[in-house]
Amino acid sequence: MLIKPIHQKIFEKAKPFLRTRKNLIHTRIALHYALKLLQSEKGDGDVVIPAVLLHDVGWKTIPANLHLTAFGPNPTNPKLARVHEVEGAKIAEAILKDLQYPSEKIKEICRIIRGHDTRKRPISRNDRIVKDADKLWRYSRKGMVIDLDRFRVPRRVYLNFLEKIINEWFLTWTAREMAKREMTSRRGEKELGRQKPKEIRHFKIHSIE
Ligand SMILES: [Fe+2]
Ligand SMILES: [Fe+2]
Repeated sequence: MLIKPIHQKIFEKAKPFLRTRKNLIHTRIALHYALKLLQSEKGDGDVVIPAVLLHDVGWKTIPANLHLTAFGPNPTNPKLARVHEVEGAKIAEAILKDLQYPSEKIKEICRIIRGHDTRKRPISRNDRIVKDADKLWRYSRKGMVIDLDRFRVPRRVYLNFLEKIINEWFLTWTAREMAKREMTSRRGEKELGRQKPKEIRHFKIHSIE
């Protein structure tokens, strides 16, 4: 994946914070989608790319055993999702300032990070692309294997959920089309999850992050 040297430097500084919750692979995949979205959707790569690279660094401040209480089906401690945004924005600001990144870009990047999961309405075109790239992860082959493994939701139920929520979730036309194409590919694949899904009797499908 070819990105500007300054963005590569940001990624290097983000990496120690991304080594939790499979966030390194998540970030690489979200970056891949962000770069694709930037080819068709209007946005500033100098905001979108750093925001994607840094959006989940805040998870490092939350003990790993609590991660699954914060997101996914039936979260018991959704406030932690807010913590990863707020703490993540602080870490991102420090990394970007350290690299002397332009201050007006830092401002928007940190605003995007501070609401990337909990703020439903995007603040800018750049925010729309970041939000869509983040969610497209769930439709990727690797992302789906990881999410099925940790959520332990039956694959068929999860695929149906992801398909139904496309129009509600995605903010750009391009991301919607990409999600639909990914769904078609995932439907054609065999079950790749390592663990047997557990029985789910009360699965609140709408509460998946
Ligand atoms: Fe996040
Ligand atoms: Fe994310």
